[in-house]
Amino acid sequence: MTVARAKRTTAGDITTEVLKRFDSTPNPRLRELMQGIVTHLHAFAREVNLTEQEWFAGIEFITAVGQKCAHNRQEFILLSDTLGLSILVDLLNHRVAGSATETTVIGPFYREGAPELPPGGNMGEMDTTGTPLLISGTVTDPSGKPIPGAILDCWQASSVGVYDSQMGAGEELGMRGVYRTDADGFYLLRTTKPKWYPIPTDGPVGDMIRATNRHPYRPGHVHFKISAPGYHTLVTHIFDSSSDYLNSDTVFAVKDSLIVDFEVKHALDETAKKLGIQPPYATGEFDFVLMPSGS
Ligand code: BEZ
Ligand code: FE
Repeated sequence: MTVARAKRTTAGDITTEVLKRFDSTPNPRLRELMQGIVTHLHAFAREVNLTEQEWFAGIEFITAVGQKCAHNRQEFILLSDTLGLSILVDLLNHRVAGSATETTVIGPFYREGAPELPPGGNMGEMDTTGTPLLISGTVTDPSGKPIPGAILDCWQASSVGVYDSQMGAGEELGMRGVYRTDADGFYLLRTTKPKWYPIPTDGPVGDMIRATNRHPYRPGHVHFKISAPGYHTLVTHIFDSSSDYLNSDTVFAVKDSLIVDFEVKHALDETAKKLGIQPPYATGEFDFVLMPSGS
């Protein structure tokens, strides 16, 4: 009687063997993704001659990243951001911006449920010591046609560089607001001048940043997620042109077209007077251009 012998796998043929197991994946895109990741993971292990200790340290690191995630904390997005993967995916998916506003990473701090605010409503109420900032402009299509009723979901860190989820128990929503454009596509938001800040470093991504001697800072910015029926949702930030770290953002997310002057003013203009703002305060202007969904 002949006994069937299992074929002995070697370091030379294991990759081909694993790739074959995915050959009959019904969804062709899933097959491509699975075979691509196996190919590159195996190539990585070969290239660096990965030891068992290093493999296990990697498993522990990824486990810690998952364990740090909570309803108000996304350590995996932070990892992707600090490895430059998020901005690479952004750049690959938005190659031809044309006249549309450039996109950038969403980051880990977006939360649903920000309060709806009227034009000029203050999303920075939590930040009692920050310099008031008024940001205004339009939301239009690429031909300049105003988009009335566009929704601007905005969020940012306070003037001391912390997000609401990093304050107290982290449950209270703050430094965020939802605004709508008027009939002329005009928006006006009130907040406080954002300062550069460190990404959260109390988790495994922070350990990685320290172990590799990188700095954890991002330049001052305000986030926007802008949506309107018939248009692609735009996820972007605008950056303060006077901020530190514009040239070395730890998540690589700065694009020149998104840098804005927040001009500090000592005399009140009409709008600031109406809103009861005390000088000094700052103003910034930015016009957003959305792409029609069909494009
Ligand atoms: C942020 O700006 O909210 C952010 C983006 C990426 C990583 C960490 C923070
Ligand atoms: Fe941010």
